[in-house]
Amino acid sequence: MALVRVALDARSYDIVIEQGALDRAGETLRGFARKGRLVVVTDANVAATQLPRLEASLRAANVAVEPIILPPGEQTKSWRHLEQLLDALLAQEIERGDHIVALGGGVIGDLVGFAASILKRGCHFVQVPTTLLAQVDSSVGGKTAINAKAGKNLIGAFYQPSLVLIDPSTLDSLPPRETRAGYAEVVKYGLIDDPAFFGWCEANADALLAGDPDARTYAIEHSVSAKAAIVADDERETSGRRALLNLGHTFGHALEADTGFSDTLLHGEGVAAGMALAFRYSARLGLCPVEDAERVTAHLKAVGLPHDLATAHVTADGTALVGHMLHDKKMAAGTLPFLLARGIGQTFLSKDVVLDDVAAFLDEERAG
Ligand code: NAD
Ligand code: GLY
Repeated sequence: MALVRVALDARSYDIVIEQGALDRAGETLRGFARKGRLVVVTDANVAATQLPRLEASLRAANVAVEPIILPPGEQTKSWRHLEQLLDALLAQEIERGDHIVALGGGVIGDLVGFAASILKRGCHFVQVPTTLLAQVDSSVGGKTAINAKAGKNLIGAFYQPSLVLIDPSTLDSLPPRETRAGYAEVVKYGLIDDPAFFGWCEANADALLAGDPDARTYAIEHSVSAKAAIVADDERETSGRRALLNLGHTFGHALEADTGFSDTLLHGEGVAAGMALAFRYSARLGLCPVEDAERVTAHLKAVGLPHDLATAHVTADGTALVGHMLHDKKMAAGTLPFLLARGIGQTFLSKDVVLDDVAAFLDEERAG
């Protein structure tokens, strides 16, 4: 078992990473069960695959389980499902001191975290992430949100969980495409500031994506350790350090918007293509060696992730894609901070990017 601490004074918490942790969750979570019961919120896919393991383990520890099962998919991060969830939690007589368990991917984690932040002015929640994306990124750090008509994640709160319980074996039932999309967020940690970890990714991606337990566990532990350190340093993304975690997200968001935030391009796939674009744009500006940009592109291509506009199924021109970027919630005083790189492991935040130039770059990319 590995333990990573997110050090945030009174809001500090542990991340537990252990193969088979779900089957022992009863022991771990018993202390969070008021009156011997826990409400577990999940989606229909996870209910069919992983919920029975959690229920069995909780029942063996004499904890009664009240499951709330929501539809799977991004559309569940909505006002409608938030209201439905809050009503269901109120019907379960959740009190302020209670813990709600979020069992699922980033959609369930983001929604349950936001519900916990507002229910009775704030109750507690535990993250039990079941996608690779959620295990290496979204379950840690307390960003919670639902989507608005105007854009993704526009309504939410910083609200930290009490515990993150990660069982890499839950990934056994995750569709391979979802695992690959989550892997983009693993690569991201190497590209931000850890070139040795990027080298590890190049050497071990095949094993990780084939389900090797050691490779999976190492990647998760390394990723959450990096994220925990960043969150402890810049919880609310004010100093610029946490913003580094958005590498590839500005380009990626525009690609996701162009493909309608649909199954055409999953979030992690958009991040993958976005990171490749960010490195190639940095090389075009003369900031980053061309060889580094090529190495990033080659790795994403080798694992079957989108790495350019064509593989992201995007046909829009540069002006249209930059138009999507203007709706980015990071836009401030007419400027969009951009993550660029001086090389692999040397990402930095630039406030000098000229959006017309980005549009011209994207048109060059589109022309091939
Ligand atoms: P998701 O939660 O939609 O899960 C992807 C799919 O996998 C869903 O169909 C789900 O039902 C299914 N699934 C989950 N676990 C499974 C399992 N073990 N076996 C079988 N099927 C399983 O998507 P995601 O990629 O986990 O998360 C994406 C969301 O996370 C987006 O809404 C994004 O905005 C958010 N996000 C948040 C943060 C943050 O810091 N809070 C960071 C990155 C992304
Ligand atoms: N996923 C980006 C962040 O947590 O800040």
